[in-house]
Order: sequence, then C-alpha cells, then structure tokens
Amino acid sequence: MSRYDEIQDELLAEPKTWLVTGVAGFIGSNLLEKLLKLNQKVVGLDNFATGHQYNLDEVKNLVSNEQWNAFTFIEGDIRNYQDCKKAVADVDYVLHQAALGSVPRSIADPITTNATNITGFLNMLDAAKEEKVKSFTYAASSSTYGDHPALPKIEENIGNPLSPYAVTKYVNELYAGVYARTYGFKTIGLRYFNVFGQRQDPNGAYAAVIPKWAAAMIEGEDIFINGDGETSRDFCYIGNTVQMNILAATASSEFKDKIYNVAVGDRTSLNQLVQAIKVELIKNGIEIKGNLIYRAFRDGDVRHSQADINKACKNLGYEPKFDILNGLSNVMSWYINFLRKG
Ligand SMILES: NC(=O)c1ccc[n+]([C@@H]2O[C@H](COP(=O)([O-])OP(=O)(O)OC[C@H]3O[C@@H](n4cnc5c(N)ncnc54)[C@H](O)[C@@H]3O)[C@@H](O)[C@H]2O)c1
Repeated sequence: MSRYDEIQDELLAEPKTWLVTGVAGFIGSNLLEKLLKLNQKVVGLDNFATGHQYNLDEVKNLVSNEQWNAFTFIEGDIRNYQDCKKAVADVDYVLHQAALGSVPRSIADPITTNATNITGFLNMLDAAKEEKVKSFTYAASSSTYGDHPALPKIEENIGNPLSPYAVTKYVNELYAGVYARTYGFKTIGLRYFNVFGQRQDPNGAYAAVIPKWAAAMIEGEDIFINGDGETSRDFCYIGNTVQMNILAATASSEFKDKIYNVAVGDRTSLNQLVQAIKVELIKNGIEIKGNLIYRAFRDGDVRHSQADINKACKNLGYEPKFDILNGLSNVMSWYINFLRKG
C-alpha cells in the first residue's frame, strides 16, 4: 500500500480541518474537491482576484450534499491580517495556495504581485504560527531555479530569479526558513512545475500554455509559440500536485522545514506539447483549423525545466500517478465542455 493510500485511509477514519487559501482558483479548487471527497472539513479563503465562483460551484456538483456542507467559504484577502486570522481559527492543516501567478503579470505589475505574494504570504504564515496549526504547506515555484543551468533541477541548487514573480516565491521560502529557525514553526514549500488540469483558467492575458492552446484549438484559432518551440517544461498533472499537498501536510517533523519539487521528472518541449494537445483534441472529435505561428521569446522565461523528484519520493512517499500524456487525456474533455458552456 502506498503512503498516499495509507494517509487517505487515516484521514477518512479521523477527519481533520483544513484551510485552503486560493480555494476558488485552479489548484485550490482541486484540493477542495479531493479533501471533501475524503470527508474532511474545509475552510476556504479567496478574494476572487483570479479565482471564480463557478469553480466552487463545479466542486459542489462533484461531491455529496453532506460533503459540501463540511465546507465554509470566507471571501477575504490575504493582504489583510485579520482575514488570515479568521480563516485559520481552529484549523489543523493549512494548504496556502493564494497568490498572483504568472511571470508576465509580475513584470507588468510587480507592486501588486509583491503585496499578494510576499505580504499576503507573511500574513498567512504568521497567522498560522500564532494559531499553532499542525502543519503549513505552501505553493512555491520552479521559477526559483531562475538562471541555474543544471538539469534536472535539485532543490538545493538555485540561480538568480528572472522575474519579480520568482523573487516573491523565493522570498516565501526565505521567510519559511526564518520562521522555522526563529519560532520553531516548520513548514513545507512545494515547488510546483507547470501544473495543469481541470479548472485551470484558459481565459485572460496570463493564461498558462496548456489551457490557452487547448482553448485556441477548440475555438479554431491560431496557436502562438514564444521562441523556437524547443523551450521545455516538466508538465505536471493536477492529480500529482494534490497528492503532494496531502503527503506534505501530514508529513512528520523530520521531513518539514524543507522544500520539495512537485513534478513528474520528465521534460516536454513546446513543439511536442502542441502536437500532444492536437492528438487528444482530434480523439475528442475536434477539427484543428488554426495555424501554428512562431514569435519572439518571452521575457523572464527560463529555457528548460525538469525536476529531480527523488527528495519527494524518498522523504514523503510521493509516487506521481500521471504523466503528461494521461494528464492531457484526462483534461481535454473538460476543456471542450467548459468552452461549450461559454
Ligand atoms: N499553476 C501552476 O503551474 C503553478 C506553478 C507554480 C506555482 N504555482 C502557485 O500555485 C498557487 C495556485 O496557483 P493556481 O495555478 O491555482 O492559480 P489561480 O490563479 O487559479 O489561483 C490562485 C487563487 O488565489 C486567489 N488569490 C489571489 N490573490 C489573493 C488574495 N490577495 N487574497 C485571497 N485570495 C487571493 C485567486 O483569486 C485564485 O483563486 C499560486 O501560489 C501559484 O503561484 C502555480
């Protein structure tokens, strides 16, 4: 039996109270869905900056009434300490996801990204420390590897950040370390590598590449590739990310005050990705009409990214169940339905 299966059995037998910040967003709403299906009590905090009520509505439809009634939503802002304090009251485990994602957004507006991702993070970390929660797990980012050339990426070897977003995510890790050393409050940072899956927003200027391309292909529009298409990423399906959050939250103290990569340990170029999405959509009856257009490289992007996931496997019992192809196969019909609903 895997560690993940064991923990799920334990949680079912003895439900806990969880706080998921950013609960109306992509990753947050998937964590909510999984925790409610495990009969956990969940408090969610979000200000709808980039999240949506319809993500919460969709989760409501995927769980039983009883499970849904174990969810309490607080509309609030992590930049406000009182909102954080209210959200964390009587909580066992915190999964802190709320932040402003996207490298280009942070280049366009570093001030708001900083306020949310650094001040907001510190508010949540401090409120959780004051509440003496059992664990605090937070969304870090592979952007912290910056310009370090080594592949695969090992947690201990990072370079210079290449964007304001990367700075904010690195500062999260620095604060987390200081809170362990100064207050004995040990946390776990999860460096996500390009997560994708159901409920990731395909709309807006800062949409991630998989939802953006899937939506463009479904709607018969052109696809734009930044650079020559040989830029590569370790694309990680949401099911793996959810698994890591649950493993991290319930980890024993010796595995805390640490950072873990969350990925598959594989690397896919944008040229390969575009073909893989096409294949899945064609399987789902979509006719591909748009063209593939190459344009300039994007500022702040790292060229290649691939994780070494050994630390997560060894310490936390992480076993990624999805590779990019079965992840894409799981998600495509969701995008088709989502876009058809309008
Ligand atoms: N998706 C990825 O590939 C990826 C990669 C690395 C790191 N991350 C990190 O994972 C986390 C979740 O990302 P996501 O992809 O689900 O993004 P998302 O935009 O879908 O979700 C973020 C959520 O946080 C909420 N939020 C933003 N500012 C807030 C504030 N001030 N107060 C309260 N709520 C606020 C948003 O409304 C949204 O619901 C973020 O911390 C992000 O930086 C994501």
